Amino acid sequence: MAKVAVLGYGTVGSGVVDVLEFNRDIIAQRAKEKIDVKYVLDLRDFPGDKVEKMLVHDFDTIVNDDEVEIVAEVLGGVKFAYPYVKASLENGKSVVTSNKELVAKYGAELLTIAKEKNVNFFFEASVGGGIPIIRPLNECLTAEEICEITGILNGTTNYILTKMSKEGLDFGTVLKDAQDKGYAERNPEADVEGYDACRKIAILTSLAFGKQVDFEDIYTEGITSITPDDIKLAASIGRSIKLLASSKCVDGNVYAMVTPGMITNEHPLYGVEDVFNAVMVEGNMVGRTMFYGKGAGKLPTASAVVADIVAAVKNKDRHIEVKWDTDKLALSDISSSAKQFFVRIADTEESRIEAEKIFGVEEFIRAEGAVDCAFVTGVMTEAQFAEKEAKLTGIRNRIRLQ
Ligand code: HSE
Repeated sequence: MAKVAVLGYGTVGSGVVDVLEFNRDIIAQRAKEKIDVKYVLDLRDFPGDKVEKMLVHDFDTIVNDDEVEIVAEVLGGVKFAYPYVKASLENGKSVVTSNKELVAKYGAELLTIAKEKNVNFFFEASVGGGIPIIRPLNECLTAEEICEITGILNGTTNYILTKMSKEGLDFGTVLKDAQDKGYAERNPEADVEGYDACRKIAILTSLAFGKQVDFEDIYTEGITSITPDDIKLAASIGRSIKLLASSKCVDGNVYAMVTPGMITNEHPLYGVEDVFNAVMVEGNMVGRTMFYGKGAGKLPTASAVVADIVAAVKNKDRHIEVKWDTDKLALSDISSSAKQFFVRIADTEESRIEAEKIFGVEEFIRAEGAVDCAFVTGVMTEAQFAEKEAKLTGIRNRIRLQ
């Protein structure tokens, strides 16, 4: 019988307990051993709940109990999670986590400790919730040189953009609706400003290239500037707007960014709607692969955490090597990356003349119900675009084409 401690009895923590109970037999068959939750750590009490008798308020009880072989950390944040996970590994316990902040910041360090202690540190649920993406990258795509990872890695923003697009509503109205439905946090900054997706692409990029990618180095824009006009004008040229987190290797340079992007209906991410997430990984041998599913939520996320618990049980006394060095990967400055840009301007003669002069625009895009007009630039670097953009007084927004 493998004994597990669950740190945190919130949405994901209670999901972990539920999944272990609901699929108890099949999980035991796959792990070749029964798995039992011995402790649940939480500051709160849960009188009458099934975990009432397993609840502890003190982490020391867990870390000092040699019977506990696996710790599932689902607290979120790094303040408590980091010291608890570190101490667990140092005390010879394997750790599984859904915590993207922890993994993005301390993943390489925690993997090093896990290796030294011959235990495991697994984090499948930290990116894409229930979507298998970490293990595929670490185990199934090891014959590949990864050329590109592009993902819709945040369900909240994907829900907002989908609803804005389908119902013609503005960002503020849809955000409020998302908050009322519990899809968006009361403080939505981490989602709508792209910070959540930034941490997730930092993890995937670190794994793809085997070195530490600091999320602070990733250029990040959120979706707060997207308007119904942008969406209507994009639709009139057959494109949709998504918050895309991507890293690409071009001529040996790795570029990573999180920005709204306009994609055509031929792009594999075009049809990913509502709260769903998807990740496209392109390798130099396999070509494009896609991973799709629920990127958040109690049971999908808990399922990935429990799968990691099973892997930890199956690999007791065997450290599974993950190539993620503490050496930093130097990301290339995005100013040298080239692409086309969609530019929305005021539909006035003055703005259009400016656009013609500065960008050589020959054709303007208009859409039914849109007040502004727009144009698409030729391929240019971010630096070249920024220089021209600064001269355009009637500019309202600009979005990268992918
Ligand atoms: N806030 C995140 C999202 C939850 O909306 O996708 C999962 O990390």
